[in-house]
Amino acid sequence: MKRILIVGATGFVGPALVEEFSRAGYFVICGVRNLKSAAQQLDFPNVKVIKVDMNEDLNPNTWLDRLREHRVDGVVNNVGIANAFGGQSIENVNVNAPLALFEAIYFYCRENREANRPPQDVSVIQISTTGVNWDDCDAYKYPKSKKLIDESLIETTGLNFIIVRPNVIYEPGRGHLLLEQIARLPVIAYIGKSYIQPIHCRELAVGIVRLMKNPYKADCSILQATGPEAMTWKQVFLTVCKALELEHGICIRTPLLFAQIFTNLIQRLPERLLYRLGILSKLDNDTIEMMTKGSTGDNSDWLKKTSVQPMHMFDTYRHLGESPEAYNDYVQSIRDTVVES
Ligand SMILES: NC(=O)c1ccc[n+]([C@@H]2O[C@H](COP(=O)([O-])OP(=O)(O)OC[C@H]3O[C@@H](n4cnc5c(N)ncnc54)[C@H](OP(=O)(O)O)[C@@H]3O)[C@@H](O)[C@H]2O)c1
Repeated sequence: MKRILIVGATGFVGPALVEEFSRAGYFVICGVRNLKSAAQQLDFPNVKVIKVDMNEDLNPNTWLDRLREHRVDGVVNNVGIANAFGGQSIENVNVNAPLALFEAIYFYCRENREANRPPQDVSVIQISTTGVNWDDCDAYKYPKSKKLIDESLIETTGLNFIIVRPNVIYEPGRGHLLLEQIARLPVIAYIGKSYIQPIHCRELAVGIVRLMKNPYKADCSILQATGPEAMTWKQVFLTVCKALELEHGICIRTPLLFAQIFTNLIQRLPERLLYRLGILSKLDNDTIEMMTKGSTGDNSDWLKKTSVQPMHMFDTYRHLGESPEAYNDYVQSIRDTVVES
């Protein structure tokens, strides 16, 4: 049984990755900040939860000990913060701690080679963002930090890596973007008219498992994990309404400044309440501005290297509207289908 370390195993994408690796027969070591909440989120077979903190674990030796103790064969770094909420340092969480981890992986492979024991190559999958492609990416701390760690991985670590750059990620019932709930609102506010290319969280997770299964197929690649269609935010909401056969509410384009003022007012609420509200706790002026910028990317390499069947947003919500079973069957068909290129 191959042993995969997933750092950032909680939150939105993390549990989907853990579930898909577990289903695919891996033993999954989950690096998390909060053991108790992780145990609730990660109730899948062959899972072990260990405590890590990317804001503090900046010493490669800390990571080397963990790699040795858990005999890790592959690593997915899924941690990423878009702002400094909760007193975190973006530089530490998105750049310095991953660098320490990557350095540790290098030494771990080297000492295994010297001792002639497995694993001698540990594949690393780094979850980045398509925001790195923006010309003015350096103007925003989040994509700037992702660009920095991507570049360090490419240039300095000497590791076998795959960088996956997802676009906006969605999944019914989970995550930061509950489209099926937004579709039912009488007034749907959206910002900007730029294009995005949302990807379903399961397409992403199934694709990443396949990359890890056969890492040499995509070795040292940068893959744009974008969905099959470029759409504006308005088209996203209307697509979901149509697929769920809902009369859509009034769509109002909200000026950026208004959205920022509204969010700033929300942020004055007590921190505990903000965290309970989830999405609102993680929005700041930069995050909102980034939502208006749009971003798209060519997914042909992603599809070729993963052989995954792209999940269309309309199909996703049409199956969901039919019944939970129809939706689950649709997701299962994605796991089962290998599209030969
Ligand atoms: N969601 C999207 O639309 C999107 C689009 C493009 C790229 N991405 C990238 O995809 C990855 C996952 O995103 P997501 O939407 O699932 O984000 P998320 O829900 O906010 O999850 C982020 C993960 O990072 C962990 N984390 C944060 N600070 C940490 C720390 N100090 N030490 C250890 N772990 C820490 C979180 O743990 P806690 O649960 O303890 O907070 C969580 O497991 C990120 O790298 C993100 O940049 C996301």
